[in-house]
Amino acid sequence: MNAKTLFMNGEFIPAERGVISVRTHGFAYGTGCFEGIRGYWNEENQQVYLFRLREHYERLLRSCKILNIKLPYSIDQLIDITVELVRQNEQHQDVYLRPVAYKGSEVIGVRLHGLRDDYIVTSEPMGNYVDIGGLRCGVSSWRRIDDNAMPARAKIIGSYVNAAFAKEEALQNNFDEAIMLTHEGRVSEGSAENIFLVINGELVTPAATENILLGVTRDTVIKLAQREFGIVTRERPVNRTELYTADEIFLCGTGAQIAPVISVDNRPVNDGNVGPISSKLQELYFDIVRGRKPEYAEWCTPVYAGVPQHL
Ligand SMILES: Cc1ncc(COP(=O)(O)O)c(C=O)c1O
Repeated sequence: MNAKTLFMNGEFIPAERGVISVRTHGFAYGTGCFEGIRGYWNEENQQVYLFRLREHYERLLRSCKILNIKLPYSIDQLIDITVELVRQNEQHQDVYLRPVAYKGSEVIGVRLHGLRDDYIVTSEPMGNYVDIGGLRCGVSSWRRIDDNAMPARAKIIGSYVNAAFAKEEALQNNFDEAIMLTHEGRVSEGSAENIFLVINGELVTPAATENILLGVTRDTVIKLAQREFGIVTRERPVNRTELYTADEIFLCGTGAQIAPVISVDNRPVNDGNVGPISSKLQELYFDIVRGRKPEYAEWCTPVYAGVPQHL
C-alpha cells in the first residue's frame, strides 16, 4: 500500500489522513460493500486502462441498494472520481482500486437504517492475485453464504469472512484455492472468483441463483466466448462431481483474472494440463484489458486522456 492519495467523503486527501474511527459501524459490524477494479498499464500507449468501470459501479449501486446505503454520486461521477484518483496518484503501473460504501456512523446497535453513509476509494499497485499458470483447488468444507442469510450478489464487506474461512482451509490443505458449495451441495464459486467448466465444447457455470457474486469477469467471459469463439455458456446447477470429470476448469475474477484449474481434490482436470479453451480465453482477456483490442475500447477507460466531465 503505497499510493499517496485516496478519496474520502468528497475529497482527495493524503493517504495518511484516510483513517476511520474504531467506533465506525461498518468496521464494527461489516455493514458496507465494495468493489475491486483493475487498471492495466499499457507501456506502448503510456496509458492505464480501467476495466469495465461502469459495470463495477452498477454492481456497487446494487449492493448499496441491498444494504440501504445511499451515495450522493451518479455512476458518471463515480467513474470520474476513480479516473482522477489514479491520475492524482500518478500511477503508471497495474493498479487495484477499491471503492467502499459503508455505514459511517459511530453508534452501537446492529441495523441498516438511520445511519450515515460514507464513501472511500483507494488505488494501489497490484500484480497477480493467484497463480494464472494452473491452480490446484479443493472443495471447501465451508459452505457459501446463502441469499437469505447474507446475499452473495452484493459484495458485502462482512461476507468476506466466509471467503477467508474457505481460502485459509484450502491453503492449509496445500491447495491454491477453494471451491465452495451451496448449502444444497451444488457448486457455487471460488473464494473470490467465479468458476467455469468446459464440458463437451460448451462452457458451464453456476447460475445467478447459486449464491454467487455476479462477476464482471464472468460476464466478460460469457460474451467473449460467444462473440469470439462461438462457444455457448450454460448457466445451470453444477454438481460437485462434474468438477472431477470436466474437460477444463478455470476461475475468473478481477483479482484472479482468468486462472486455469489443473486439479480438484487431487484429481487432475482432464490430463492435468491447461486446456485449449481456457488458454485462448486467457490470452484474449489479457489483450483486451491492456487496451490492445480496439473493438473492446468501450470496456477500457483511459486514465491519461481528456479531463473528467462529471466532477
Ligand atoms: C466472491 C467473489 N466471487 C466472484 C468474484 C468475481 O467478480 P468480478 O469478476 O466482478 O471481479 C469476486 C471478486 O472480485 C468475488 O469476491
